[in-house]
Amino acid sequence: MFETFAAEVEPFDLASLDDSGIEAIKQLVYEQKLVVFRGQELADEEYIAFARRLGRPEPYFQEHYHHPDHPEIFVSSNVPVNGQKVGVAGTGRFWHSDYSFMEEPLSMTMIRPVVLPEGKRGTCFIDMELAYRELPEHLRQAVEGRRSLHDARNYYKVQPGDVDRAIIELVEEFHALSPGVWQPMVLTHPVSGEKALFVSRGFTLDVEGMRHEEAQALLTELFDRIERPERVYVHDWAKGDLLMWDNRSLIHRAAEQAPGQKSCSYRISLYDGLPFDAA
Ligand SMILES: [Fe+2]
Repeated sequence: MFETFAAEVEPFDLASLDDSGIEAIKQLVYEQKLVVFRGQELADEEYIAFARRLGRPEPYFQEHYHHPDHPEIFVSSNVPVNGQKVGVAGTGRFWHSDYSFMEEPLSMTMIRPVVLPEGKRGTCFIDMELAYRELPEHLRQAVEGRRSLHDARNYYKVQPGDVDRAIIELVEEFHALSPGVWQPMVLTHPVSGEKALFVSRGFTLDVEGMRHEEAQALLTELFDRIERPERVYVHDWAKGDLLMWDNRSLIHRAAEQAPGQKSCSYRISLYDGLPFDAA
């Protein structure tokens, strides 16, 4: 599908897979980084059951993102159900790797669109192993063996209950819940042994052992290089798609969507039981 990553799998019955089939799917994700299963019309229970066979699904740390009946499902939606807001609208419109701001980042993420807007809606991806391989020497030296700060504070989404509250209170409350974490700037994949650059414009805010200006200049140079348009793969969602990707080797963001369109997707993220970084 794309020069360096992404594979497409024709419709088949995911629920009928035996253990070796499940293992084969995980290996395909590690190898291809992004796999799109076509024609999957799963009930919520089937979707969760499939995730549980792959690993340990992790409910998002902020409950207002949860599906009302299934906390494992993270709901990105602007479609009310029975007049009630469900999940959060317009999530992930910036480059990131899921949960990189947590001590234990999520190994894999799955997304299935539930309500498809008219026009395009999809997810964009960048191969961070390729980004690492293409680093010029001065940048490779700058990131190797160094850590950077991942923090989600810039993307705290104001909730209806936040009305009349001071920004500083919201920031402090969010910081207590999610203080950010220092992560290696280069990861080693536990299955392939490949090295990947592990930074993103959304969540990487600082670099260890550098003055503020120096750190920001390095990060900007890295992000501008990583995000070159020819390195971005956009998957436009189709009905029945189930996307599954490796958070160790890809960063992603939600693609732009026409304003005013209804859109809803269900995400499940999971731990695959392997170390996030095998270095
Ligand atoms: Fe995400």
